Amino acid sequence: MPDPCTLLIFGATGHLASRKLLPALYHLEAAERLHPQTCILGFGRRPWSDADWRTQVSDLLQAQLGKRLQAEVLERFCQRLYFVTGDLDETDDFSNLSARLRGPEGFPRNILSYLAVAPRYYVPIVNALAAQDLQREDESWSRLVVEKPFGFDLESARLLDRQLRQHFSEDQIYRIDHYLGKSTVQNILVFRFANLLLEPLWNRNYIDHIQITHAESQGIEQRAGFYDGVGALRDMIQSHLLQMLTLIAMEPPPSLDAEALRDEKVKVLRSLRPIAREAVHAQAFRAQYGPGRSGEQRLPGYLEEPGVAPKSTTETYAALKLYIDNWRWRGVPFYLRTGKRLARSQSLIAIRFRHPPQRLFQSTAIERLEPNWLLLNIQPNECIRLEIQVKPPGLEMRSQTERLDAGSCALPPEHIDAYEALLLDVIAGDHSHFLRYDEVEWAWRIVDPVLKLWATERDFIPNYPAGSWGPPEANRLFDREDQEWRNGL
Ligand code: BG6
Repeated sequence: MPDPCTLLIFGATGHLASRKLLPALYHLEAAERLHPQTCILGFGRRPWSDADWRTQVSDLLQAQLGKRLQAEVLERFCQRLYFVTGDLDETDDFSNLSARLRGPEGFPRNILSYLAVAPRYYVPIVNALAAQDLQREDESWSRLVVEKPFGFDLESARLLDRQLRQHFSEDQIYRIDHYLGKSTVQNILVFRFANLLLEPLWNRNYIDHIQITHAESQGIEQRAGFYDGVGALRDMIQSHLLQMLTLIAMEPPPSLDAEALRDEKVKVLRSLRPIAREAVHAQAFRAQYGPGRSGEQRLPGYLEEPGVAPKSTTETYAALKLYIDNWRWRGVPFYLRTGKRLARSQSLIAIRFRHPPQRLFQSTAIERLEPNWLLLNIQPNECIRLEIQVKPPGLEMRSQTERLDAGSCALPPEHIDAYEALLLDVIAGDHSHFLRYDEVEWAWRIVDPVLKLWATERDFIPNYPAGSWGPPEANRLFDREDQEWRNGL
């Protein structure tokens, strides 16, 4: 059984808490994975009593889970919920919070503070917690969970880190990248390191290039306040896509312990060839969705979305070509791309192998030999597929692509949310699926030169129709003509 703790949620009524944290905690309750004494204390501006918050949370879970909600689990879960009214900028409100935590109600002494708020509140909250000594670890622990974005660029990430570490040590900080909580992303490690047969092929001698795609069919929905001015490179590539790249490219770690794992990931990030200012246009591409269609439905362009600045040139699509200058990967391009309002929601890692060295079938009816692809589908469904060439039955020497699918490809998508696993990890004190500061720093170093140059080119941004696979101009990143985006399994 995990330790009992008090889970303090800052931003308890916000989007992240309602959409992800509270449903994940409810599921952990249903799975009996929370200690019986664990309490969840929401902190927010609304003048709510505990009872008010319990009603709000029941309603929101009801709306999200519908018939899947179990009355007796909900009742148990609601008994854990408490609410303290307070303003994030008001020091006095934190004294009330601290008084309640240490008061007669007997909240567990271990404290998990979750910053589910806009980044500008991170430092004020941490300072206020420290002013109440809530960061101290005497006979109990105090852990801080920080959501991305961790900084806005390299410089602000460094500053934020310094500010947080005035009060919390690296050991106490859990920087979330929720992709690391996805079972399919964790499967990359198992797939690579539990199977001997891949290792000899997993390098520049056999792999032609690797693509990592995260496509979303939705637009930015109601998130202009966060997204406009941030854009796809910061929002997705700096974090989730670079994390997937490290797992694909890393060397086997000596153990699965958090430091060993993160040391190897950092080595990959450090080996990424920096993008020189003159190379930005050859290695990076950005675009924004204009109006488009999905069947009969008209889809609005980004500039028509509520809250977006009228002449915004924020990118909703970004693609990057990267090289890892080490013995394993030198010369193998890694193509990363992400976009909103693309044709379909899909996250896919596609690994293309080289052609065989000999043209043995030149004189046969085989006109063109397709290369082998290994496809790791991250979502919506978990699927590992290998494409191989075989001869179809018949008199002629022909070839066709056959697919070897892992059993999971036929299963419906799993709906375990990454946050369930990550919350349990924080309670257990396991950092393996959280970012160490140096990972964040090296990831910013990669994207920073691109962001800097794009920031000077704010007059124009190419468009792509909403509902399409993005701008064809992004193809110019490819090293060779026979390389192209792989849009699906
Ligand atoms: C978030 C980004 O980190 O990840 C969002 O801020 C994006 O813009 C989301 O939509 C994608 O996560 P998932 O789990 O839905 O693939």
